[in-house]
Amino acid sequence: MKRITLIAAFFLLLSGLAKAEKGPAFLKGEALFNNNCAKCHGVKGAGTDKGPPLVHSIYHPNHHADLSFKWAIERGVRSHHWKFGDMPKVDAVKSQEEIELIISYIRSIQKEAGIF
Ligand code: HEC
Repeated sequence: MKRITLIAAFFLLLSGLAKAEKGPAFLKGEALFNNNCAKCHGVKGAGTDKGPPLVHSIYHPNHHADLSFKWAIERGVRSHHWKFGDMPKVDAVKSQEEIELIISYIRSIQKEAGIF
């Protein structure tokens, strides 16, 4: 009985540590993503009827490097992979810092989903 309690405490501690990894940068990136991207790319990048999922092997860093995310935000995207139409550039995301926060957020949820 005691051992089980210890093991349970250990896993609680581990899950606490995993949450701690989602620090302020993750949360800022998540908020920026939810405000500017989720209406098309879905909460947690799962996709909607207006845009593709970003948590998808097509957007693995080897296929779409960080630069293509930056360009998508700054310039928009002409439709080429899917049938949702073009992506307009996202004017509300202004600074390089915000762009980087969004990209790191997407990379971390891709990682969490086992994309890479
Ligand atoms: C109005 C809807 C809409 C919004 C808002 C939107 N996107 Fe997109 N996005 C799309 C669509 C549609 C595509 C697919 C284009 C295609 O067919 O390849 C796309 C494609 C992309 C791609 C792939 C680029 C490439 O080179 O193929 C990236 C990366 C991306 N979006 C990131 C974002 C990020 C980050 C945000 C928020 C800052 C965002 N999008 C906001 C609709 C949207």
